[in-house]
Amino acid sequence: MAIDPASPIPKYSQLREILLDLIEGSGLVVDDAIPSERELGTEYGLSRMTVRQTIDQLVAEGKLYRVPGKGTFVARPKIAMALALASFTHDMRQRGFTPGSRDILRRIEPAGGHAARMLDLPPGTRVHHIQRLRTADDEPMAVERSTIPLSFAPDLDTHSLAGRSLYQLLEEEYGVLLDSGEQTIEAAICDPTDAKLLRLPPGSPVLLMQRRSFSNGRCVEVATSSYRGDRYQLQTALDPRR
Ligand code: GLP
Repeated sequence: MAIDPASPIPKYSQLREILLDLIEGSGLVVDDAIPSERELGTEYGLSRMTVRQTIDQLVAEGKLYRVPGKGTFVARPKIAMALALASFTHDMRQRGFTPGSRDILRRIEPAGGHAARMLDLPPGTRVHHIQRLRTADDEPMAVERSTIPLSFAPDLDTHSLAGRSLYQLLEEEYGVLLDSGEQTIEAAICDPTDAKLLRLPPGSPVLLMQRRSFSNGRCVEVATSSYRGDRYQLQTALDPRR
């Protein structure tokens, strides 16, 4: 492909198409270096500024990454998360990753006003509070904070969740099968504690998900999860609006 100077499409957009084709097509693989800004400028007859603008954009989108003094490289594709009532374990296994879970905090406490409202319970009802770091192939992916009423799983605190799925445990030990859920997803900045756990630079973006999961119409879990913005994207099929 070449840049068409007569085209109404801005040159940086044309270069973007060329680079995307190189990154996502068959040209380059993950961690391959792309040509330098100077090489790209010479090859396509573009100013250094135009080339930089295009690359900056692809870096910001997580398609490329820079190593100071070394160059610019092809980033790993993000994990496309389906919008479904899936457990982290199931989701990661389906993609061929080995899921992991490390407890950050687990305790039983009275539900605060907000958690109680979300769980449809009177404030002060005892709940399990579980904070976990979720990993895929040992790489930190998300920090998840779940609140579960004791009534569903009285001795949940005695079960290890290391390498075990919470949803599977609820089903197998307590007969609680989650059958519906609701979730909001928003962009957020990772808080400093989570950034350390996720090995992200301070101020990194995350996808903040708030989920309520139900079994037979009763709310079993209220969860807040921070997923790495550089590793995740959301994917959904679109049905026509009727
Ligand atoms: C997802 C949800 C969490 C839920 C978790 C259970 O990641 N965002 O709210 O707690 O799945 O995953 P697992 O069954 O692997 O522990």
